[in-house]
Amino acid sequence: MKKLILMLCAFFAAGAMTSAHAQFAKAEDAIKYRKSALTVMGTHFSRIGAMVQGKVPFDAKAAVENAEIVANMSKLPWVAFGEGTDAGDTKAKPEIWKDGAKFKAAAEKLQAESGKLVLAAQSGKEDAIKAAFSATGGACKACHDDFRSK
Ligand code: HEC
Repeated sequence: MKKLILMLCAFFAAGAMTSAHAQFAKAEDAIKYRKSALTVMGTHFSRIGAMVQGKVPFDAKAAVENAEIVANMSKLPWVAFGEGTDAGDTKAKPEIWKDGAKFKAAAEKLQAESGKLVLAAQSGKEDAIKAAFSATGGACKACHDDFRSK
């Protein structure tokens, strides 16, 4: 019985791994996907940045819309950093696969901070948005410093 359970566990674990991998036919597809998600996230994050820096007028509604996109996009890129996607047209550092736990924690930190950015934007308070923008930017930078080559 115990052996059967172990076998089933191994079966499902293998299934879970291949399904994450099977989302992308080729490594280059995964790389393209994650870069696209990061580009979209970066574009909408910069729009809040422009407001925070006073380059465009403050617009609470636009802040909410952009923050929601950032928070949603912040969930997407990470599944595309599977095994075998370390080479090609990518700036991903090998450290991602050497210290997966730290990379995952950095992704989770971004998700937490961008969630707070949505709440700050919904409050409509410029100061709160500025603070949350800078905390979220800190989460981007921390991961880029460790895991993205220049
Ligand atoms: C958990 C780590 C991590 C976090 C957090 C993170 N990034 Fe990145 N980012 C990366 C890595 C790794 C790459 C390189 C991806 C590649 O080239 O395959 C990258 C690349 C990018 C790119 C370039 C995409 C391209 O087309 O080459 C942009 C833009 C970007 N990130 C913006 C952001 C912004 C804005 C944030 C915060 C809101 C952020 N990132 C947070 C890891 C992260």
